[in-house]
Amino acid sequence: MCGISGYTGGRSVYNIIINCLESLEYRGYDSAGIAFTAGNRLSVIKCKGRIADLKKKASTRKINAQAGIAHTRWATHGKPSSLNAHPHFDSSGRIAVVHNGIIENYIDIKDKLLEKGYTFKSDTDTEVLAVLIGHYYEKMAIEKAILKAAEDITGSYAIGVILSDSPEKIIAMRHDSPLVIGIGVHENFMASDVSAILKYTNKVIYLQDKELAVISPERIEFLNSKPHDKHLPVKINYTIEQAQKTGFKHFMLKEIYEQPKVVSNILAGHITSSDKIHFDISGLDIKNIKEITIVACGTAYHSGLVAKYIIEEFARIPVNVDVGSEFRYRNPIIKDDTLFIAISQSGETADTIAAVREIKKHKVPILAVCNVLGSTLTRESSATVYTNAGPEISVASTKAFTAQITVMYLLGLFFAQEKGIFSKTRLTSELNIFKKIPNQQKEIFKQSRKINAIAKKYLNFGAFLFLGRNINYPIALEGALKLKEISYIPAEGYASGEMKHGPIALIDEYRAVVCIANDSFVFDKVLSNIQEILARKGKIIVIATEGNRRMTEFTKETVFISKTNNVYAPLLTTVVLQMFAYYVAVLKGFDVDKPRNLAKSVTVE
Ligand code: AGP
Repeated sequence: MCGISGYTGGRSVYNIIINCLESLEYRGYDSAGIAFTAGNRLSVIKCKGRIADLKKKASTRKINAQAGIAHTRWATHGKPSSLNAHPHFDSSGRIAVVHNGIIENYIDIKDKLLEKGYTFKSDTDTEVLAVLIGHYYEKMAIEKAILKAAEDITGSYAIGVILSDSPEKIIAMRHDSPLVIGIGVHENFMASDVSAILKYTNKVIYLQDKELAVISPERIEFLNSKPHDKHLPVKINYTIEQAQKTGFKHFMLKEIYEQPKVVSNILAGHITSSDKIHFDISGLDIKNIKEITIVACGTAYHSGLVAKYIIEEFARIPVNVDVGSEFRYRNPIIKDDTLFIAISQSGETADTIAAVREIKKHKVPILAVCNVLGSTLTRESSATVYTNAGPEISVASTKAFTAQITVMYLLGLFFAQEKGIFSKTRLTSELNIFKKIPNQQKEIFKQSRKINAIAKKYLNFGAFLFLGRNINYPIALEGALKLKEISYIPAEGYASGEMKHGPIALIDEYRAVVCIANDSFVFDKVLSNIQEILARKGKIIVIATEGNRRMTEFTKETVFISKTNNVYAPLLTTVVLQMFAYYVAVLKGFDVDKPRNLAKSVTVE
């Protein structure tokens, strides 16, 4: 949902803000722009398209700047165009603003400003904010003008402002959209997320809600802070390599291949040498939980659905799962013996955070399962379990999903351990199966050629159906989501048992059906579904367990996973479906890491 970068210091402002912006392109990529100060001159270069187009446009200019801000856009108000691209000027042309988020009451504010005689060039809410700041700047200092404008607006924002009157300053402010400040020596940075500035510094300060920072090369001043807001720099412990492709063709492929390591790291982080599971969530009264409700969106919602099977199976606690955007407006029943869990890769998803705020009103505990240190979700929850998957750059989530479900397996086992449901022997035997998963995921990578060949064969099918049963039903949903996100082929996920209740009407020789048919107590039922599809000339691709010869009687398009207990199979079946979606999109020639219309973190409702 838009990426922002900023730099003030003695090095090449242009190179740094563009370099940082390129790492943020996953957040939006329909237009881009920069603003920079030199002496008392403020200049803007912007265009429709990607950062590469902006670089082409800027290449004819000699840019010698003191400070600069940059923006890559995911359109909310107004179509992608050069006029709607950020930065936007105030009416005097002395102030330039970049913004991530949505100003919900921008029409009212625009009307008032129009009455006062101001005019507008774009369709954006951001230009309204820039003009409003400029209006107040006529009468007060810029910091006060921004704070005053912030009082007038509702919605979410992370903004960067530069002005010709103070060419070394960048002013940053945020509310419900992320913004981080990077600390350098005689220079400072600003960005929507840490990975963008990691090349230059690993010391950061997370700007707090409604806080304003005045950033100069030698100092950072904070205004509007709350008494408990801390400004001690945090040292980021992941490396720049983790945020780069390191030889892989796409981030998505790299992130798929990182999954064995991610799973092993999470296991190592929560299992003691005597096979006890530990989580640092002492504030939560686990033993007395009667129910669990999980809220999340998209892929994270699918990991919530997998968690329902896990926790009900292991810990016998009933679990409800809801999408953030539905939970909030459903007048939900919130009981104090329920544990609420919010799952999110970014920790900035507006719908999930809105659900969390609804829950917080009832003063019940919320556990965040999140990948991004210091994100809004982690700050607003009672406790956090980090998924520690490292930066996930590709818009289509892969390793973050596996990390989320790995954490949910461990939480399920932990609840069973704490409630005394599992004996020591049972726990050890579960962990022995679990610990084999990373190597079993690597076995799937050995079949990449085969998966690629299947992708080639099915590339031009107009629609796909993904079927899974029991704990692999959410994996069918996730497989369908991956395919549609990056290859734009209509794909639906279904519980295989539901096929006969409607979707079977779709089956003919032009329909491809991906069936998750690993060895399990529901295998025979899934097999019957496969026969029903074949009887109607449907084409099938199957995921089966190695050694299952019966499958090869039905189709050559079988990808095998290693033998494991059905409950852990999602950690393997999901990898096959991620690879399948990846190869289809690559073969179709699509931009896998930056699919159309999407953005990595959806910070608007
Ligand atoms: C996943 O491939 C998607 N791009 C999307 O569904 C995502 O999972 C969803 O927007 C939630 O994001 P979060 O995990 O950062 O909250």
